[in-house]
Amino acid sequence: MSPQKEDQRKSARKRIAVIAGDGIGQEVIPQAVQVIQAAGAAVEFAAFDWGADRFLRDGTTVPADGFAMLARDFDAILVGAFGDPRVKTNIHAMEILLGMRFKMDLYANVRPVRLLDAALCPLKGVEPKDVDFVVLRENTEGVYTDAGGVFKQGTADEIATQEDINTRKGVERIIRYACEYCKTHARLDGSPRNKVLMCDKSNAMTHAGGLWQRVFKEVGAEYPQITTQHMYVDALCMQMVRDPRQFDVIVTNIMFGDIITDLAAGLQGGLGMAASGNIHPGRTSMFEPVHGSAPPIAGKNIANPFGAILTAAMMLAHLGMAKESSRIESAVFEAVRQKKTTVDIGGSLGTREAGQFISTLIARQ
Ligand code: NAD
Ligand code: IPM
Ligand code: MN
Repeated sequence: MSPQKEDQRKSARKRIAVIAGDGIGQEVIPQAVQVIQAAGAAVEFAAFDWGADRFLRDGTTVPADGFAMLARDFDAILVGAFGDPRVKTNIHAMEILLGMRFKMDLYANVRPVRLLDAALCPLKGVEPKDVDFVVLRENTEGVYTDAGGVFKQGTADEIATQEDINTRKGVERIIRYACEYCKTHARLDGSPRNKVLMCDKSNAMTHAGGLWQRVFKEVGAEYPQITTQHMYVDALCMQMVRDPRQFDVIVTNIMFGDIITDLAAGLQGGLGMAASGNIHPGRTSMFEPVHGSAPPIAGKNIANPFGAILTAAMMLAHLGMAKESSRIESAVFEAVRQKKTTVDIGGSLGTREAGQFISTLIARQ
């Protein structure tokens, strides 16, 4: 191939920054990368060592210009997890993970909730067609801005405040994202999404809740084809366990979104099965499994790589590689059906073997 042709071929390839991070991130991300390659996706990878080891070695969390570099040089970022018992302050996770979400303004945390096989759901009588919803979590403000402070620390008069920051712009764009999401993302059975449920705690947190309520009403009115609904977050948790069939698109703030997506992961077979994207349309976006670094099981080849692999599929779909994405998803479906999985979801394979099984299935397709 001529050097010019080689350059053209290369430039058609999407560039993926890979940050495996800590704990089981180091085990599941290599499997996701291998599966992407097996699917024949036109991508090239560059790995970064951001995480606890690097921080403990040289004090760096994010190298100078790190976020600008990711935005400039890459089409997407594939991330594992951050969190290490040796870093008690969790400062590296805050600066790397929340840094990417906040500083790159990845305002939509998209967390699909899908049951791939009835055997994975702890609820009786619930089948894959019954669990097919998505949580759209505001990802850049709320209580995670960490605004607040501690006064008179260590005295009997100590005061700690933790502010909940909700901007008109921030609330409006995630609610609009949820409404637009319905247009572009059908349900697994092919039927269109048309219900958006806003979840808050406006009966107690009236200032922030009031803003969410007003904006939801206004933006919802622009989408007559969408049925708008509301639930308080406590009631929603109960409904999610009682009858997950009723949900389609849920939009909520950063804190409630964090909690309800771990609950929702429980419906899918646990944290090892849940995928997510951190998206700002038109900008370099970041994709990561919902789970954390799981220190107690790290380094033992037992972590479930399917959440990371489904995350890779989500990333490829986002990058316009629908064919490669669905090849990966079909292979995960098949592996679950054949019980070629890790132990957390009833199989007997290790992390590497489960990932390898997916890669082999894809190669045979
Ligand atoms: P966790 O998600 O790491 O683990 C919760 C439970 O789920 C554990 O029992 C764990 O063994 C299990 N689990 C998680 N992923 C699994 C997988 N792929 N396969 C099998 N089992 C799996 O959450 P945690 O224990 O609350 O937190 C551990 C560390 O991870 C903390 O430092 C936390 O801050 C961090 N964390 C990071 C992220 C992230 O980087 N996105 C997300 C959540 C937690
Ligand atoms: C997640 C995690 C993070 C969050 C933590 C590690 C800050 O729990 O991605 O769900 O709360 O967003
Ligand atoms: Mn979480």
